[in-house]
Amino acid sequence: MENLDVNKLPKHVAIIMDGNGRWAQEHGQDRLFGHYEGVVSVRKVVEAATEIGIQYLTLYAFSTENWDRPATEVNGLMSLFVDTIAKEVPDLHKNNIQLHFIGNLAQLPPEAQKALEAGRHQTAQNTGLKLIIALSYSSRWELTEAAKKIAIQVQAGELSVDQINEATLSKNLTTSDFPDPELMIRTSGEYRISNFLLYQLAYAEFYFTNTRWPNFRKKDLVDALLDYQSRERRFGKTSQQVSPN
Ligand code: FPP
Repeated sequence: MENLDVNKLPKHVAIIMDGNGRWAQEHGQDRLFGHYEGVVSVRKVVEAATEIGIQYLTLYAFSTENWDRPATEVNGLMSLFVDTIAKEVPDLHKNNIQLHFIGNLAQLPPEAQKALEAGRHQTAQNTGLKLIIALSYSSRWELTEAAKKIAIQVQAGELSVDQINEATLSKNLTTSDFPDPELMIRTSGEYRISNFLLYQLAYAEFYFTNTRWPNFRKKDLVDALLDYQSRERRFGKTSQQVSPN
């Protein structure tokens, strides 16, 4: 951690937490056991992100596509979300963490919606790490919703077609309050983006690790950050333009 350059930290890190099921199978356990262990990693990574000074952390906890998993797994995950949020909110609050949720939350069971809203409300005044949990989230859903919202504004005469620009789109996404992530981490050896923040990750650096999510710890986050800091971010420009010396 002492090798990290505090002046070159990404403000926003996004993580696709993959490999819970495989980790469980490798340990001769039910897939849900992997998700329970995954919560331990969530806690460790949130602690580490706070300590390091990351300002925004987005975690992909459940995708729109995950609804198609067997009902036992979906129901188990929903209970896990409700229990974890209820259990962790006091500690998150103590650590000044502000909790946010993005996704099609109306699809979640009512008790989950209530737990999320209570957690969000309780931590709303906090000024530390912004922890954003993507639940029932998919980027294509989000972009479709944004298109509808913009169309409604045009229809109402509040916006003309000529006024629509990239900022209009950003403002109508579920992430409108957050800067785009500079670093996206995916665990468990998959090299896909899986409908996650497609618009927001346009210039993010991607970091892939074979580590299964339940094994992911502070050291793995630091490794990802060190790798990020070793890269030259050019945003379409030449190397000479971004670092003339
Ligand atoms: C992907 O692994 C993981 C998920 C679909 C669930 C992730 C959820 C948690 C870690 C719990 C987080 C809880 C809160 C409250 C944020 P997978 O099941 O796709 O693994 P596999 O690819 O090995 O099958």
